Amino acid sequence: EFRRVLFRSMSQNREQWGSRVGFILAASGSAIGLGNLWKFPYITWHNNGGAFVIVYLIAVILIGWPIMTAEILIGRKSQKNPVLAFDELGGSNWSLIGWLGVLTGLVILGYYAVIAGWTITSFISCMNWSMNGYTAPEEGAFGEFIGNGKLQLLLSFIFLALTAGVISKGIKKGIERATKILMPILFLIIVYMVIMALGLPGRNEAFSFIFSPDFSNLPPSGILEAVGHAFFTLSLGMGAMITYGSYMDKKESIFKNAALVVILDTVLAIAACVIMYTIIFSVPSVKDSISGSTVGMLFITLPNLLYTEIPFGTILAPVFYILVGFAALSSTISLLEVIVSLLIDKMKMSRQKATLIGAGTTYVISIFCALSLGAVDALSSFSIFGPGKEGVLSTLDHLASNWMLPVGGLFITIFVGWFMDQKIIQDEVGKFNDDGSVNFTYNMFKFFIRFIAPVAILAVIISVIFGKDFS
Ligand code: TRP
Repeated sequence: EFRRVLFRSMSQNREQWGSRVGFILAASGSAIGLGNLWKFPYITWHNNGGAFVIVYLIAVILIGWPIMTAEILIGRKSQKNPVLAFDELGGSNWSLIGWLGVLTGLVILGYYAVIAGWTITSFISCMNWSMNGYTAPEEGAFGEFIGNGKLQLLLSFIFLALTAGVISKGIKKGIERATKILMPILFLIIVYMVIMALGLPGRNEAFSFIFSPDFSNLPPSGILEAVGHAFFTLSLGMGAMITYGSYMDKKESIFKNAALVVILDTVLAIAACVIMYTIIFSVPSVKDSISGSTVGMLFITLPNLLYTEIPFGTILAPVFYILVGFAALSSTISLLEVIVSLLIDKMKMSRQKATLIGAGTTYVISIFCALSLGAVDALSSFSIFGPGKEGVLSTLDHLASNWMLPVGGLFITIFVGWFMDQKIIQDEVGKFNDDGSVNFTYNMFKFFIRFIAPVAILAVIISVIFGKDFS
């Protein structure tokens, strides 16, 4: 009787995406976020472009694509959150991967909410500039802003509250509807900005920075960072895509959806670099204000372009930051949903209660992060990974994206490639073509998930552990 009630309550809680494009919208909404617009441009800058971009692209193809496919597959097969999904398909030992994922999600959401909060103030500044005229911010203004502890606490609180608000309502009506309208608009504005940026004098320098690799310029730690970022930007390694896959219709093609998410996400990341570096190389004053705080690139560089170089920029600027905010929101939602769906399925909580507990716990982490940008010395100088990674926020970012996600991802490849019943792969993605021959994508996926991806991740992790150089 208990099992029956349990089963019934589970299947009742299991919403499905409302439309055929529901999964693709939500999954690309999860993938496309601050990782593309904020993080990728600034870590690429620190790693001297070119070679780093190549390593990142290789990681996306060799590691990102197969793990994306594997996660969706686990989710859709089990129709459960990551912890219970591994439990069902592999037994209780494997469910540890799910627990690691939940922990990783808490950590990422904790600092992500702080950065996401900056979109709120950028929007307000832009409204102000649009109405009263643009004045370039003074040098050091950004440092002052992030060092303002009370403001950072408030902004991250607002952002988590927004995330919790959408999650508590269920995902179909809130986020699915919003992303359907907003993500395409964001895409169009980015395309428009790329085209405009191409008219600026710094274009060639920007392109050669991004696209001409010089491997002697790549810091050794850059390889781990590129792999870590491939996980981060694609929302992989912690079960977010398992969770979203669990709401996916059985008729959808996993291969196609996975590939599309990977491509969209990558295009956006490269576009963000093209825009930002072109401005940096074109406008000397931006280069000066950026030099102190590359972390703030997205928030310092773009207003300058929009207000000084681009037709209709005055109108677009505030709109752009709203959209960046939404891109961030559709990502924070996917992070919180992993935690909340676990509390609902495993602890039998109501969605409201689960949301409150999940968001509340996350905010505790956010507090430490928000105060680690200058407000509290002990938190700001806290360091495990050495120079350039000081402060609780960057330490947690480094820990989660470069270690926790790749390790989670490694176990996912091993599980799906070697331990899971291989018939599940056949059932979920289809093994045969109409003429009875074995599907090429199927073979390629099997090869990648069994050999290529785990070996690549392991090689990087091992060389990091043994080569003292990597941080
Ligand atoms: N991919 C998102 C970004 O690039 C961030 C994100 C959302 C994420 N969900 C995740 C990262 C799950 C890792 C795991 O902004």
